[in-house]
Amino acid sequence: MSTISVETLRRWLEEGRPVTVVDIRRTKDRTEWYIPGSLHVDIYDAVANRDPSALAALNLPSDAPVVFVCNMGVTAAIAAELVRQHGIEAYVLEGGMQAWSLAYNVAEVPFEEGVEILQVRRTGKGCLSYMIGSDKGAAVIDASVEAKVYQSLAQQRGWEIRAVIDTHVHADHISRALTLARQTGATLYLPAQNRVHYPFTPLEDGDSIDIGRAHLIAYRTPGHTEESTCYLLNDKALFTGDTLFLDAVGRPDLHTDPEAARRRAELLYDSLLRLQSLPPSTLILPGHTDSPTPFDGQPLVRTLGEIYRTTPLLKESDKEVFVQTILARIPPTPPNYLEIIHINESGSLETLAKPVTELEAGANRCAVH
Ligand SMILES: [Fe+2]
Repeated sequence: MSTISVETLRRWLEEGRPVTVVDIRRTKDRTEWYIPGSLHVDIYDAVANRDPSALAALNLPSDAPVVFVCNMGVTAAIAAELVRQHGIEAYVLEGGMQAWSLAYNVAEVPFEEGVEILQVRRTGKGCLSYMIGSDKGAAVIDASVEAKVYQSLAQQRGWEIRAVIDTHVHADHISRALTLARQTGATLYLPAQNRVHYPFTPLEDGDSIDIGRAHLIAYRTPGHTEESTCYLLNDKALFTGDTLFLDAVGRPDLHTDPEAARRRAELLYDSLLRLQSLPPSTLILPGHTDSPTPFDGQPLVRTLGEIYRTTPLLKESDKEVFVQTILARIPPTPPNYLEIIHINESGSLETLAKPVTELEAGANRCAVH
């Protein structure tokens, strides 16, 4: 049996190497997350039954490798085996879509002389994290892929990671900030709050962090969570976490009761009003997107002005209507979010009951459209 690891397939896609990715999951399993550019054929049951005609209709190229993908990598292995019998170079993605959850790609955000911004995208989950590099130092915001990824990106660019920062206590993925800070010796900065049980440097509204020519200022923006904080870089770019997305806002209801959710929705309205006073040209760099990030090197970014112009929720000037609308549109809760919040608050990453990718399975659901 020929397997391919998530890291190898990820690298092939990033390098633009010709490869055909065939997703054989049932249609209902493909609705939320898929590998960008993959071909979908709903032949899961036929392949599981080793029906040789299942793959006959596929016109697979013989000059480039084919990678079969399913949920866990078991049924796709049968597909690869059947196809290999016809002389095609076929592989199964080891661990399937569950393992793919950790795959990432990187895009550079054009910024200013002396300050570089990398958008590190967890493509299989939609989490967006950032590295800001300047004068051989770097800060990482909302680390959501394995700590070694940021370390290797820093090493390639000659950066030393000095600050590791989160925008809030996350509910949809396990924060890698604590691990990254421990492994690099960087300072761990979190918004001031009483939720987490491990040492960190608290940030209050207006506090700042300097890395070379990069100057970050904390903007307290409660709503999605009580402690949610955005970071303004050199007065030109704002890392918004789950407060403001490119076409949506953060849900205010997780880990709380309906009354507190309502209060948080009110706080969110005030926070978004506060952000609106920044220049319309401010680049917005959010903590999530809701579709798989392509391997195209194009950063996901919009200006504040554009977002406020095109997002209906943000045009609502009546606070009460805004609150009612948000509360009526709350999406289903992310899977395992209570367990994930507990891990992010306790910092007890070593004693997980399940594999990380199983805990973090599924899409993030932090946005209200
Ligand atoms: Fe969040």
